[in-house]
Amino acid sequence: MNNKSIANISMAVIRRLPKYHRYLKELLEKEVYRISSKELSKLIGFTASQIRQDLNCFGGFGQQGYGYNVEELYNEIGKILGLDKTYKLIIIGAGNLGQAIANYTNYERSGFELIALFDINPKLQGLKIRDIPFRDIDELEQFTNENYIDIVVISTPKEVAQSVVDKLNIKNVGGIWNFAPTDLKVSDEIVVENVHLNESLFTLSYLLNERELESKK
Ligand code: NAI
Repeated sequence: MNNKSIANISMAVIRRLPKYHRYLKELLEKEVYRISSKELSKLIGFTASQIRQDLNCFGGFGQQGYGYNVEELYNEIGKILGLDKTYKLIIIGAGNLGQAIANYTNYERSGFELIALFDINPKLQGLKIRDIPFRDIDELEQFTNENYIDIVVISTPKEVAQSVVDKLNIKNVGGIWNFAPTDLKVSDEIVVENVHLNESLFTLSYLLNERELESKK
């Protein structure tokens, strides 16, 4: 596997990889070490041909008549997703959502290390979450001048999201995990991943209503 081949993978495939990774981890925990694309298909819900096609993008880890080596596949997908590395994170906007993310220790186990929380609320100053101090937003500029940050989590109100992003020293930032419901304007060097839980919730409400309509037919 080389970086060039990783760079050519479509986003649709990339977005399916975390799901493969999660199911493969569960299989390993159940001590399942070998699986066919058909069995994997039943488990994950993608078709067997979709799975073969997806995994072929990386050179194909399966062998005819043997199936996939679960551990090898799990490790390789982990590497493709960059989960064999560690990342430094900061959270800007440490209210309900920011604190929930800060308290979620599973990210730490996957290599995402939270190093600071920034907020404008003076009541938070001097407090800590898991030994990580809350800092005043006025310290943000200096902090990003002095530290390289792989991922900046934005969980401020949408009205201020752009202004806090503008305080970052972008040379020292890898990417932004943006929860604020607004499109951030940033230099092309920075990767932005927007998260919208609403999209999933509204899809669920659509499915609930569709089911209701079906039952009335
Ligand atoms: P919240 O009001 O509990 O927290 C916002 C925090 O940002 C507060 O602690 C506040 O003091 C801080 N803040 C305000 N202005 C600031 C500034 N200039 N600099 C630094 N900190 C500042 O709100 P909540 O519920 O945690 O939501 C946070 C954001 O996340 C909102 O934009 C909300 O719409 C969004 N959200 C997004 C979701 C998603 O799926 N994308 C789900 C839930 C919330």
